[in-house]
Amino acid sequence: MKEPLFVAFSTQKGGTGKTTLTVLVASYLHYVKGYNVAVLDCDFPQFSIKDMRERDLKSIEQNEHFKALAYEQFKHLGKKAYPILESRPEQAIENAGRFIKTGMPLDFIFFDLPGTVNNSGVINTIATMDYIFCPIVADRVVMESSLRFAVIVNDHLISTGKSNIKGLHLLWNMVDGREKTDLYHVYEKVVGELGISILKTFLPDSKRFRREVAEDGTKAMFRSTLFPPDKTLAKGSNIDRLTDELLTILK
Ligand SMILES: Nc1ncnc2c1ncn2[C@@H]1O[C@H](COP(=O)(O)OP(=O)(O)O)[C@@H](O)[C@H]1O
Ligand SMILES: [Mg+2]
Repeated sequence: MKEPLFVAFSTQKGGTGKTTLTVLVASYLHYVKGYNVAVLDCDFPQFSIKDMRERDLKSIEQNEHFKALAYEQFKHLGKKAYPILESRPEQAIENAGRFIKTGMPLDFIFFDLPGTVNNSGVINTIATMDYIFCPIVADRVVMESSLRFAVIVNDHLISTGKSNIKGLHLLWNMVDGREKTDLYHVYEKVVGELGISILKTFLPDSKRFRREVAEDGTKAMFRSTLFPPDKTLAKGSNIDRLTDELLTILK
């Protein structure tokens, strides 16, 4: 059996989209692209993805439209929703290993790691990832903190050969407007000089990323652990393109 790849959207900076991207990409791969995914929610003690799953399940129970949609989807897929496991970040690798031993088919395990990298256990978890994608926002404070993180991972883990990491890529999130402005090109030049790569695909700043389940009777979901992003809402979100670009790296 092939070992699943360990992937994390990770950076020290909070609020840059780690959890959101973990869920969107995991759902897209598992429900649209036919891969088998598991998520290790290591954001102790908040466990926001685990909570999201509970809310998603409730919204299906309470809404006939979603109930029918879920029934059709899972019948068609012939598999269940991806598992979401809780773990302390220090024990994430051990817990993932135990889960892999259950023999469930798995292509990818996504780790939602906390922003605080304050002990060797967390560093060890980061070092055991196969790939790290670091969401960044074009804001000076975010950039400084994210670049520091990326440089440390690059210089101390990747370059020294002391880790399992095969790639670290930055990823623009919350880009204002349709096009990246000159500011982005300035940042990209700096990042390039540091020897760090940035994904071509960027994600726009858009309300829909905050949208979870329909509170108001609307029949569309964007960020869900049980469905892929609704097709209409997904338009222009670049989630499909991002997933395709990620797959070219992960394969
Ligand atoms: N591209 C985006 N456009 C608009 N809001 C976004 C986008 N990506 C994430 N968000 C929002 O930003 C907030 C922080 O995202 P989150 O994924 O929780 O960050 P992190 O896990 O890195 O702390 C959330 O409210 C989320 O919905
Ligand atoms: Mg988070």
